[in-house]
Amino acid sequence: MKTSVGNCSIWYSFIFLLSHCDSISGNDESPLIFTVASERTDGYLRYIRSAEHYKLSVTTLGLDKPWKGGDMNFQGGGYKINLFKDALEPYKSDDNRLVMFTDSYDVIFLAQWESIVEKFKEMKAKVLFSAENFCWPDDELKTKYPPVEGDVQKYLNSGLFMGYASNIYNILNSRVIKDTDDDQLFYTHVYLDDKLREQNKIKLDHKSNLFQNLNGNVGDVSVSIDGEGETKLLNKKFVTHPAVVHGNGPSKLALNNFGNYLAGAFVDGECMTCQEHNIPVEDRESFTILVALFVEFPTPFLEEYFDKILTLTYPKNKIHLFVHNKIEYHSNLVDTFLNHASEEKYLSIKAINAKDGISEATARELAVNRCLTKKCDYLFVIDSDVHLENLDTLNELIAFNKTIVAPMVTRVGGVWSNFWGAVSEKGFYARSSDYMTIVNYEVRGIWNVPFISSCYLIKSKILNKLSYTKAEVDADMALAEHLRNHGIFMFVSNLNEYGHLLNPDNYDIKKTRPEFYEIFANQFDWEKRFIREDYYTQLLEETVPKQPCPDVYWFPIGTEIFTESMIDIMEAFGKWSDGSNSDQRLQGGYEAVPTRDIHMNQVGLEAIWLKFLQLYVKPLQEKVFIGYFHDPPRSLMNFVVRYRPDEQPFLRPHHDSSTYTINIALNRRGIDYEGGGCRFIRYNCSVLDTERGWMLMHPGRLTHFHEGLTVTKGTRYIMISFVDP
Ligand SMILES: *[C@@H]1O[C@H](CO)[C@@H](O)[C@H](O)[C@H]1NC(C)=O
Ligand SMILES: *[C@@H]1O[C@H](CO)[C@@H](O)[C@H](O)[C@H]1NC(C)=O
Repeated sequence: MKTSVGNCSIWYSFIFLLSHCDSISGNDESPLIFTVASERTDGYLRYIRSAEHYKLSVTTLGLDKPWKGGDMNFQGGGYKINLFKDALEPYKSDDNRLVMFTDSYDVIFLAQWESIVEKFKEMKAKVLFSAENFCWPDDELKTKYPPVEGDVQKYLNSGLFMGYASNIYNILNSRVIKDTDDDQLFYTHVYLDDKLREQNKIKLDHKSNLFQNLNGNVGDVSVSIDGEGETKLLNKKFVTHPAVVHGNGPSKLALNNFGNYLAGAFVDGECMTCQEHNIPVEDRESFTILVALFVEFPTPFLEEYFDKILTLTYPKNKIHLFVHNKIEYHSNLVDTFLNHASEEKYLSIKAINAKDGISEATARELAVNRCLTKKCDYLFVIDSDVHLENLDTLNELIAFNKTIVAPMVTRVGGVWSNFWGAVSEKGFYARSSDYMTIVNYEVRGIWNVPFISSCYLIKSKILNKLSYTKAEVDADMALAEHLRNHGIFMFVSNLNEYGHLLNPDNYDIKKTRPEFYEIFANQFDWEKRFIREDYYTQLLEETVPKQPCPDVYWFPIGTEIFTESMIDIMEAFGKWSDGSNSDQRLQGGYEAVPTRDIHMNQVGLEAIWLKFLQLYVKPLQEKVFIGYFHDPPRSLMNFVVRYRPDEQPFLRPHHDSSTYTINIALNRRGIDYEGGGCRFIRYNCSVLDTERGWMLMHPGRLTHFHEGLTVTKGTRYIMISFVDP
């Protein structure tokens, strides 16, 4: 065995020298590689890129000419044979010349010619076809195959083959084939013809020594890293490194996934394709874009969404705006946005309102059509649950120069994103092996994936091929399926961070100020809207908190919207307690120091309030009352108090049943009310100049006996919690 391998490589070196001399003498014996492609699809460009990476020169037959080979999703492709036959004519009697034929839309080269030739020669064939597990297109022919031992790939696949020119020419001319006949069937008949097979020493590459078909084998194949830091395909079952890979049949999506790494696409963990064919900086703002906004479902934090659209850095005089709002509830916000937009220099603005009653799919197709009518260069789709924090997102996406590319956005702190790594057979979500590494930014790149949604940039040249419509499937899934069927690659970039996705699942527009209820589903956005920017500086070691009275600390915490929301929620509910000692909301039914108030649990805010205490109040407490830890903080009494001259204007001196109490001012002294404040009797110290959104924090018992001072005019609202009773 050893000797024969040795002999083989000596023989190979000899051939190599020969061919080297021949090329010097002008008799060109460079590789002859043929493919057939009518269009420069994304798959074709990937194929050519892989050929260039391995310095292989490919002759493409039928390029930019009409395809005559029938529908390749079924049978067909005789056209390929007829084109190839003509192309091979000049070499028909060449017994030494090696020729390779491959498909191209779903093929990637994985090795240089020398290595291809070496693998070919190991197989001791004159013509070698790739092999697969399925006998296609005629399953009946299974029984006609010569027997082969072991658990190997038994049947011929004609997407990849190689051999000597004269032998291949013989095969091609062994029978007549119509353009629309099936090419694989043709080659299968050739192989099953004992005479032709033996004469031309035709073999199948049963163990993927040279050729890898992926269909039915995806699980046996993985991407591995070689000594040079470049990724290679490994067939784990046969322990081979195939030199050409073919995503035949339904394995195209698996090939797309592998293709993200192969043929020098990824070297030393770095995405190399990401830097190829980029649009130079100076040209990036020269394109006209239709920016299409879709509000298709009730969406929390929509104001912030629109704010971000208005602040994108892309020149507004290059943007046509398009808005579809399907949700009546959001009409006011959309109108406000449109008013702001009309003051900017947008090229045009088109809005479709909820009352127009247009479906999502139709609206999306209207945006496509408008982009075409306006002759824009790109369509940029952005749904209402996408917040783009990176204001240069458009410019960055343009740079990638992809037909379709989405900026990766994920739900904050989660793995839910706007792309799928894989699709199930039925067309639904499936997780790819690299999904987690991509959403967690462990690897960065621009990834070819089978599904994107929510936000993406599309070159207008393919807009007339888009469709959002398919029965019983939502618009996003219809689009992705359509693109997959047309061989248009969808890319998602995580090269940079662009923004995040909101979770609209539990958003309840029947509530007053529904965003206030979003602390669990959308904490990131909740905090941005409701917690003051200077909150975090309070936590810094060097910040000395205000202390208006002994052990009474004073912190900025809630934003204006926080305080307004709280008041609105309580007033909309409206069932203020009557201020008597009888209180059925309490366990004993008795309140010693009653106020006019509404408890958080009466408006469904109890859990949210406890979360707020834990997230934002506890850290402040730990800073000022050193050594006291209680996580999570407990609190049974969380309520908003209303003081009015004609209702309850003050509260008599009392202790609180708490370890510590917080007291957040919800409105403005001197504007919304007069008088009021809090007096700590033991210290004869009052806090009168309370500030909206600021929180007092003080011990509840013993030392901090206190009273609510009289409100003389207007209404004063405060928010109280008795923490750790
Ligand atoms: C952008 O992509 C197109 C199509 O793939 C290509 O023809 C063009 O040369 C690319 N632009 C640059 C600057 O590389
Ligand atoms: C309490 O403080 C007020 C205002 O500073 C002052 O007028 C009053 O005399 C003080 N009372 C006592 C008992 O110290």
